Amino acid sequence: MLLSAARSVSVMRKSVVSSGSQVLLRTAQRDASDKSQTTLPRLPVPQPAKTLKHFLEFANAIESPKEFEETKKVVAEFAGNELPKLQQLLEQRAKEHQNWLTPWWLNVAYLMARTPLPVVTSPGVMFPKFDFDGLDGQLEHAAKITQAAVNFYLLASSGNLPPDMAGNVPFDMSQYNYLFGTTRIPRKSADIIKYGCDYGHTLQHIVVMRHGHVFRVKVLDDQKQPLSVSDIRKQLEQVVSQSEKEQSDPVGIISSDNRDKWATSYEILKENDSNKKNLEKIESALFALCLDKPSEPLPGYTERDEQSRQSLHGGGSKSNSTNRWFDKTIQFVIGSNGYCGMTYEHTPAEGPPVATMMDFICDKFDQAAFTDSGSAGSLDVERLDFNLDENVKTQIKKSSKKMDYVAQDLDVVAYTFKVYGKNLPKTAKVSPDSFIQLAFQLAFYRIHSSFPPTYETATLRKFVDGRTENIRSPNLAAVSFVKKMTSTPPAPIQDTFEALQHAANAHKKYTVDCMNAAGMDRHLLAWKLLASENNLPTPLLYGTHAYQQLMHFQVSTSQVPTRHFIQMCFGPSAPDCYGVCYNPQEKELHFCISTFKSYGSTSSKKFAKELERALMDMRSVVNKATKERSKL
Ligand code: COA
Repeated sequence: MLLSAARSVSVMRKSVVSSGSQVLLRTAQRDASDKSQTTLPRLPVPQPAKTLKHFLEFANAIESPKEFEETKKVVAEFAGNELPKLQQLLEQRAKEHQNWLTPWWLNVAYLMARTPLPVVTSPGVMFPKFDFDGLDGQLEHAAKITQAAVNFYLLASSGNLPPDMAGNVPFDMSQYNYLFGTTRIPRKSADIIKYGCDYGHTLQHIVVMRHGHVFRVKVLDDQKQPLSVSDIRKQLEQVVSQSEKEQSDPVGIISSDNRDKWATSYEILKENDSNKKNLEKIESALFALCLDKPSEPLPGYTERDEQSRQSLHGGGSKSNSTNRWFDKTIQFVIGSNGYCGMTYEHTPAEGPPVATMMDFICDKFDQAAFTDSGSAGSLDVERLDFNLDENVKTQIKKSSKKMDYVAQDLDVVAYTFKVYGKNLPKTAKVSPDSFIQLAFQLAFYRIHSSFPPTYETATLRKFVDGRTENIRSPNLAAVSFVKKMTSTPPAPIQDTFEALQHAANAHKKYTVDCMNAAGMDRHLLAWKLLASENNLPTPLLYGTHAYQQLMHFQVSTSQVPTRHFIQMCFGPSAPDCYGVCYNPQEKELHFCISTFKSYGSTSSKKFAKELERALMDMRSVVNKATKERSKL
């Protein structure tokens, strides 16, 4: 999904590059150690002419003719002046790194960003509703989810997961190794990341949070096998008995704040030896398990909407936001009424590996495949209490207040379109993903009468250490399609259908470019970073109206498909924007839409309504056009 930091970084100073050196070191270690992945191709360097062509095409779709004339001039000047040197520097970098993008991307998109992790950077993920209500079921499901996740960890860390593929093309699997035991550590200016796989041994514990208290809980025995469900559950019962009263100073809430603020408190905490040990135990935990207290949907919203709020931010400090440690890559969120999910810190991995793990856990429930035999003997949980000074206590209050504001401001709607799924576009010989992206353009245009620069994640995992590219919309074909759909009098049905097919094919063609590392966005980012790192002036291109506008993603989207009814959600990248995560299934389409209420002119519910209208109207075009053609 889209990260505001990646766009807002205008300068990457050398000092910052070196402060992120742990990441670079980590990548280098991995290069040397993981032989299975060395067969994957290195990330190629895109061709400059193609990138500039894409830039002009995307600018043309959103600029006035006068603005576009100006953009063309600046692009031509850039091509004749700065470009050759910058491209040469990039080619040099590509020789030195097996993936020229990923170390940069980790820094600029994640570690250097100072913005809070919830709700834009860290997505929420929702499980299908489980069948329980009350503490007993909560503990049972928490123990089972834990055991299933530990099994997944053992598969991932031993390299025994089946490889992800696109057709016959294998994907880079390294992200699976980074999910467990991993923590983003706050530091001034740029965070660092500690990967679980770097501990060099099987990790054996998790941290459990309840009412803001933190506990260390063992989940693997000394033979490195998952504990039985009963043994995990017994420990959770100990947690419950020691956490009935709400923690008055829940230190985890500071991890929801601006990263510099958290870094300051973190440094103070670490000065105390016992706190330092607690932090290390949290950081080396496989994941966090949050046993939440009951929460009710806001008036006018559904249980599923509330589940998305709980998984994104915990609903505010009076609800469950104080029962989180946002730096952990994985935090399972166990509601008290069957609604469970997770909050995931995005730095080490994209959504699909997380979604695979969620599907795996759901499979275990479907198959009732839990082990409940054997006992590891007596197990005692360990309370991790912190010694807090007044500075940290004050920061807890400030961070709680900030979280409360965001939790009430973020409007999240989980919406399922049930009339059709991928099946309809497929029968019309159109890519379902492109079809859905066109529906976003149409829905937005009908609300705002303009075309939104739109971000969609494409995976680069067919390359070693691959992360993402941006499949941008709209292009001219999408603009033409939306105009046909909204014209008065209505355009002839065959014209509209052809416009739909043309626009979808253009989107799909660009998708393929992006997945083959021939997209535009990361290449432009590379030139900009290289200019900065080499003390060259930032090219004028980056100050153009076109560039500025193209980088303001009014709609940021991400497709995260799963086999079970699992949804992901994330906040919009800026106050006037929409965040849309979607999961297209064969016969229905799941969306999670977010906006900020304080902006005023955007609305998640309105977008959901217009999206439904767009999808219905597009079906009508497909059906009528196909019927007419069949009569010919
Ligand atoms: N006619 C008929 N069927 C078609 C078609 C056409 N013209 N084009 C595509 N299809 C079919 C495909 O074969 C596929 O079939 P399947 O359901 O049997 O697998 C299906 O439609 C879906 O294809 P499509 O909708 O084109 O998209 P995709 O599944 O290839 O996904 C991306 C496209 C860009 C989302 C995907 O490649 C990607 O990069 N995903 C990663 C995103 C990510 O990282 N998200 C998380 C960010 S945190």
